Amino acid sequence: MKGKFVTIEGCEGAGKSTQLKLLKDYLESKKENFIMTREPGGTILAEKLRNIILHFDEEDICPLAEAYLYAAARAQHINKLIKPSLDKGKLVICDRFIDSSFAYQAYARKLGFETVKKINDEALQNIVPDLTLFLDISPEKSFLRKGGADKSDRLERENTEFHMSVYRGFKKLEKIFPERFISVDVSGTKYETHAKIIEILTKKVL
Ligand code: TMP
Repeated sequence: MKGKFVTIEGCEGAGKSTQLKLLKDYLESKKENFIMTREPGGTILAEKLRNIILHFDEEDICPLAEAYLYAAARAQHINKLIKPSLDKGKLVICDRFIDSSFAYQAYARKLGFETVKKINDEALQNIVPDLTLFLDISPEKSFLRKGGADKSDRLERENTEFHMSVYRGFKKLEKIFPERFISVDVSGTKYETHAKIIEILTKKVL
């Protein structure tokens, strides 16, 4: 594996999209050899699974099935896009990855860390992020900043307690994976956060 793999995580409304856009512009200006992708998604099949996971409302998706759907999308994404890109020496930036499964499925949906790890072990095909940046803001603050949840999204409709347990899940991951998981305080302006992200990326992977 020659390229570097960076994942960006955060609760709903943490400003991921804004930061990814700023980061994309920055990497293009520096002529970095990179791709930007997302989970669930990144390939045709994985995007179809994303559509099911986020918008399927004909019956409840049980937590275990949900975890397997994310893992299936991940297996396809790694196989078709992430691994080949890393093999070509590219920098791969991914909007969410395995840590979202830990925070949402293991902690918030209460499947437990070991179960989610087991479900994902094969899917991951030994691909581990070199660096994970967690955009650190509690959901209470981020929803206020964003002006409420997007009601068309099955997951954003979940209650505050669900989103708080996702947040607490991410904070646990900081302790479990200290070698790669870095929290970035996003309480400042979007440009201040962007500067922090560039500083960490430059030090760790660029
Ligand atoms: P996004 O809208 O931020 O791209 O994320 C899609 C939703 O999917 C978001 O609510 C988080 C959730 N998710 C999981 O629950 N587990 C996962 O493994 C991933 C990748 C996302």
